[in-house]
Amino acid sequence: MKEKISCLTEEITNKLNSVHDLKELSELKSLYLSKKGPVNELMNYMKELNSEEKKAYGKIINEFKSKITTSFDNLKIKLENEELNKKLDAEKIDISLPATKINIGAPNILEKLIEEVEELMMSLGYDVVDGPEIEEDKYNFEMLNIPKGHPARDAQDTFYIEGEEILLRSQTSPVQVRTMLKGKGKTPIRVICPGKTFRRDDDDATHSHQFMQIEGLLVDKEVSLSDLKGTIDVIVKKLFGDDVETRFRPSYYQFTEPSVEVDISCFNCHKKGCNICKKTGWITIAGAGIVHPNVLKMSGYDPKEWTGFAFGFGAERMAMLKYGIQDCRVFYNTDLRESKLFDRKEV
Ligand code: DAH
Repeated sequence: MKEKISCLTEEITNKLNSVHDLKELSELKSLYLSKKGPVNELMNYMKELNSEEKKAYGKIINEFKSKITTSFDNLKIKLENEELNKKLDAEKIDISLPATKINIGAPNILEKLIEEVEELMMSLGYDVVDGPEIEEDKYNFEMLNIPKGHPARDAQDTFYIEGEEILLRSQTSPVQVRTMLKGKGKTPIRVICPGKTFRRDDDDATHSHQFMQIEGLLVDKEVSLSDLKGTIDVIVKKLFGDDVETRFRPSYYQFTEPSVEVDISCFNCHKKGCNICKKTGWITIAGAGIVHPNVLKMSGYDPKEWTGFAFGFGAERMAMLKYGIQDCRVFYNTDLRESKLFDRKEV
């Protein structure tokens, strides 16, 4: 019996020494410590002994069983610890490492200005509308009272795409025509249309072949120049501050009569004269006027019944003034450092 126990102890100890993981250990346990396993077999063997022998061997066998069970338990604890440590090592986070930097974008400066104007105009009951950038000559010129061959066309340096009929719109004013045609001469109109325009004129840092305008059109009964002035004044004060004044200078556009040039008092020098206003105390920011009766008529609005005003702001010019930008190319490059700079800068 003793020999059997010592053989079995040696066998189990050897096997335990070569166990690598908990799975192997549990397999080994069911092999040796299950009911029908060799350890229990020894216990069962006790039944066949007489009481004298039982006394002598009982102690030995019990000690043997408890020693083996303890060996299994200890190894289990050891392997469990090892596995836990391995897992912790694999998931280890070095909290002293600097965090990954997340780059947050910034709104495009022009887009920001346009959104500001849109919000203001919507609060005044205007709709924001859109029109095609590839436009027909009919809408860009003819229905705006600029017939073929008229010298007013030259001023716009238009990009023609196909013959004389299809072009890149040189102004957002064709959206006035498109909006009136939709109104079918019946409904009052209040819209603004911010959008891209294109001209072949890019000779210096203040001109680009592509630029943005914010067009406005209001058609209703008994609309006057003072309605236009009041509306423009609200926009100007919102963008540049309450102490900035608006003035109208006579001008000429084919599609408005009378036509005006909109100047604002220089927010930098307050009319004293500085470099921004070229020493004049005033800065031009838009063209505007009372919608020409021919334009109303061509788009289906009877000029005896309806009147309207229209305006067209240069969006880049407004943003350059508002944010003190010297070169309009800044609006179209993708350098976040620049966008972020202006994102924080409010007048
Ligand atoms: N479309 C004109 C331009 O590009 C600007 C303009 C002037 C728009 C007068 C208007 C307006 O709506 O009434 O130079």
